[in-house]
Amino acid sequence: MAEVNIYEGAIDKGLEGVVACTTSISFIVGNNLNYRGYTIDDLAANSTFEETIFLLWNGRLPSTTELDKLKADLNKNMTLDPAFVNVLKTLPTEGVHPMAWLRTAVSLSAHWDADAGDMSAEANMRKAVRLTAKMGAMVTAFEAIRTKREILTPVTGKSIAWNFMRMLKGSEPDAEAVKVFDTCLILHADHELNCSAFATRVTASSLSDLHSAIVSAIGALKGPLHGGANEQVMIMLAEIGTIEKAKQFVKDALDAKEKVMGIGHRVYKDGDPRAAILRKYSKELTAKMGKPELYEMSAMIDDTMQKEKGLMPNVDFYSATVYHSLEIPTDIFTPIFAVSRIAGWVAHANEQYEKNRIYRPRGKWQGKEGLKWAPADKR
Ligand code: COA
Repeated sequence: MAEVNIYEGAIDKGLEGVVACTTSISFIVGNNLNYRGYTIDDLAANSTFEETIFLLWNGRLPSTTELDKLKADLNKNMTLDPAFVNVLKTLPTEGVHPMAWLRTAVSLSAHWDADAGDMSAEANMRKAVRLTAKMGAMVTAFEAIRTKREILTPVTGKSIAWNFMRMLKGSEPDAEAVKVFDTCLILHADHELNCSAFATRVTASSLSDLHSAIVSAIGALKGPLHGGANEQVMIMLAEIGTIEKAKQFVKDALDAKEKVMGIGHRVYKDGDPRAAILRKYSKELTAKMGKPELYEMSAMIDDTMQKEKGLMPNVDFYSATVYHSLEIPTDIFTPIFAVSRIAGWVAHANEQYEKNRIYRPRGKWQGKEGLKWAPADKR
């Protein structure tokens, strides 16, 4: 019988085209993204982030009672333990990226979670609620600590989006801004087998605990080729400065074989549906804040990339100017991704635990063979 060549396929191609698992959480068909069978357009127009969390975790939309219970549970669990906050205050913030700080904070939070080592499905759900509730509280605590402001406690009866915006800025947020932000959280909540969801599943597949899986995910999300791209888009726009320079900037980047941040996608080749929704918000909000040139510059980059390279914007491209218009500090953009994507990470960890087999691929050997050890003075 002919030997199967296990090395053929996607070696060194970032596993492109490889189907790594079955999943019923979210899927991409053409330029459509679906969570549990609902299109992202439908959810963005009609749902809330909390309802989307329920959907991702349970595979169906909640009843009113179920949604009220989840909202109350999340709200109750948003407050950070004072002893945990005391330790957080000892962590350096100067020169530390909030994603690096968040990675540490989430790992540290396990020590205040009585269920940390309990792998039962019930304990995993309790941890999921706590982590999801606290993610925004941790990100906003970072901002409060580095700006030497008081860390605000969450307000009962208010959503994750509302509380995040209040705790970030220290004042009651505008209802319209909260609605936009809530939609952004829905749009970022899950995305099939993206890099951080895969990292979550790889860690969960060794039957490691949920906190460890989420810390792995945060590490993966932090990179500029994944969640870190939204921050880089804002930095790029600031560097370009004016619309007149936008086209040339793109051409120079392409000539130099540099990546234009927020553009391109492994799966979407005809456009990312989330970017289409965010593009509209970007146009409206930048005009409202009196900086329409930020949208115009973005649109010019978008058009030039399509013409020059046939590449379209991904979720990070227009979210940058949306967050900027909501007066969110640029380095908080990627942590916001984590505030939302925790919903998907939890769903992926649980799906992995339910039908687990450890991830253990092979590497194709390209090194030397047959070497013999020699003492140091003979090398
Ligand atoms: N700017 C310039 N060229 C890009 C590009 C970008 N943003 N994204 C892809 N390309 C080019 C590559 O250089 C490559 O060109 P080539 O065939 O001439 O060599 C081709 O398009 C394929 O790109 P590749 O990097 O192989 O795609 P990928 O599937 O491995 O990567 C991304 C997908 C998203 C990581 C990639 O498009 C990228 O780095 N984008 C910028 C970062 C970003 O926005 N990340 C957020 C993702 S949601």
